Amino acid sequence: MPQQQRRILVTSALPYANGPIHLGHLVEYIQTDIWVRFQKLQGHECWYVCADDAHGTPIMLRAQQEGITPEELIARMHAEHRSDFSDFLVDFDNYYSTHSAENRELVALIYQRLRDAGHINRRTIQQAYDPVKKMFLPDRFIRGECPRCGAKDQYGDSCEVCGATYAPTELKNAVSALSGVPPVQKESEHYFFKLGDFENALRAWLFPDITAPRHVQAEVANKLDEWFAAGLQDWDISRDAPYFGFEIPDAPGKYFYVWLDAPIGYMASFQNLCARAGLKFAEFWDPDSRAELYHFIGKDILYFHALFWPAMLEGSGFRKPSAVFAHGFLTVDGQKMSKSRGTFINARTYLNHLNPEYLRYYFAGKLGPHVEDIDLSLDDFTARINSNLVGKYVNIAARSAGFIEKKFGGRLAPSLDNPALLADVQAAAGQIAAHYESREFAEAMRAIMALADRINEYVDVTKPWVLAKDPAQTQRLHAVCSTNLNLFRLLSLYLKPVLPELVARVERFLDIAPLHWSDAKTVLTSHRINPYEHLATRVEPKQIEAMLNESKESLKMNEIKPAESTTSAAEPIKPEISIDDFGKADLRIARIVTAGFVEGADKLLQLTVDLGEGRTRNIFAGIRSAYDPKALEGRLTVVVANLTPRKMKFGVSEGMVLAAGPGGKDLWILSPDAGAQPGMRVK
Ligand code: MSP
Ligand code: ZN
Repeated sequence: MPQQQRRILVTSALPYANGPIHLGHLVEYIQTDIWVRFQKLQGHECWYVCADDAHGTPIMLRAQQEGITPEELIARMHAEHRSDFSDFLVDFDNYYSTHSAENRELVALIYQRLRDAGHINRRTIQQAYDPVKKMFLPDRFIRGECPRCGAKDQYGDSCEVCGATYAPTELKNAVSALSGVPPVQKESEHYFFKLGDFENALRAWLFPDITAPRHVQAEVANKLDEWFAAGLQDWDISRDAPYFGFEIPDAPGKYFYVWLDAPIGYMASFQNLCARAGLKFAEFWDPDSRAELYHFIGKDILYFHALFWPAMLEGSGFRKPSAVFAHGFLTVDGQKMSKSRGTFINARTYLNHLNPEYLRYYFAGKLGPHVEDIDLSLDDFTARINSNLVGKYVNIAARSAGFIEKKFGGRLAPSLDNPALLADVQAAAGQIAAHYESREFAEAMRAIMALADRINEYVDVTKPWVLAKDPAQTQRLHAVCSTNLNLFRLLSLYLKPVLPELVARVERFLDIAPLHWSDAKTVLTSHRINPYEHLATRVEPKQIEAMLNESKESLKMNEIKPAESTTSAAEPIKPEISIDDFGKADLRIARIVTAGFVEGADKLLQLTVDLGEGRTRNIFAGIRSAYDPKALEGRLTVVVANLTPRKMKFGVSEGMVLAAGPGGKDLWILSPDAGAQPGMRVK
């Protein structure tokens, strides 16, 4: 019986536009993409939209720090994110931005409806304010000593040492992370969304009676129960200028908090797609819509998606999600991703060393429908790719294709061998589809590999390479190899949501139209195929090592990047020092005697400087981007002459050159030559 075609709209959380995509993010985008591809293979109408989350204080500050506009920053990040996703074969139907005209309009509409229905109120609150930067400070931008354990330099909302959570006012010796000065308390009027107005609607949506479909996972419902018990608080949805976001239409100088406009970005991205694809927005978003709507998210943003978002939709006359699917966090080798261990791996760093489909396959093998964290164990990764993907699956084709090509002119046999095995592998389509549908990807991969084991046993028993030597067995050889390639075709279909590019190559090799799920019912006989080309190579441990090294390296390079170590305006000013402290620094004019490149360090120059009276020093300076070494020789500069020598990767650095400028080409170290002499004190 043909299945009813479903209309499905799917989203992944919108990544922040202030940083690169990393492997943790990819858990979610790969999970969603596999599910979407599966739905499309089933013949359903399924749309997958996402966008950059472009607003908020961190984006505004980062742009300032880089000396560019927020618009320039988000345009650059958008291009980077898009290319990372596309290289990982995450196939959005639309990848948009929350900083868009569609979003601005939808945000205004939803806000007005909520306001007119009485769900918004205003009141004046006190908040930490940076008197130097002249802006209110989000908790994250206040640092101080933990009120519980006394650990220094902790965030305004929680302590990374003892795990305490607290209000920023409880921090001891609090300072603004932006200016280094203590924040003051300042009043301002804020806008609030009255979440409590939706308590009943939310309860009905979150805890439907036992026969109705669930909108959140069971373990999530339990968590939410705790939140209800704690009481649904009003939600502060406004921020004061300066802020990068949408201004509140009836409140100049006030902006919508980024988390208000971000989920509306799902709608905006879809609306933008509608215009292009000729879809009707209302058919997906009206309260009586029969389309399905699913949000894939990480467990850290549940509160926003399971409480605020459905309440906002309810209050503004839109449909609520069919379900919110939360996943856990990625760990690498059993631990939180770590920059110093090199396990905080950016998407691009991975791509520089390894095949994206291998990560898709590995994650698929780990993913289930629950909120559990998932671990990327790098040894296990290598083992699974090599033994399952290459050893079991690809090998089936590799072991049969040559015979078909050489002995049978590339044509499959008119009838096949082992109908029982074929029937079993065909019949597995239903179970595997059920696994995909319920996001039991690990189960799907297990089922597919169990089939691969049976197929390989069949190859081992029938021994095509022995049959090939016996002219009396030619017909049997033809049937056996044709059967293998048919079994391989079925496994390829089942793996297609996970390995779209590899399976596209299989389709070219078998010379068939793109596989659909219903093709599990058919087999290929008397069909001409193309010559086999190798489909996948093994992972070598040295590739993993190189990836980890690159991850660590990029961190080290960041540390000595002049732009970051010198004059970023937003970097905190360090605690005060006395004039006596300052007097300890011996600043001297020095003549640069020699300057040269440092092998293996693309940011550094090695300088020999003369401090007068034959006192020379060796100094490594992160100024290569700004100066040609030859142009420096003979010139004067200012150095800190009494700095404790520091051992670096390339040698010992015996001082420091003072530099100013934003970095790159704009970095100045030279002192005016007029009247200055090496060894002169700088006052
Ligand atoms: N911008 C918000 C989402 C707004 S949705 C309307 C945000 N962005 S994020 O870049 O921090 O995260 C994007 C998604 O990636 C989130 O669902 C988040 O849970 C997920 N992950 C980010 N780091 C992750 C891991 N280390 N592991 C697994 N998922 C992670 O949150
Ligand atoms: Zn603490």
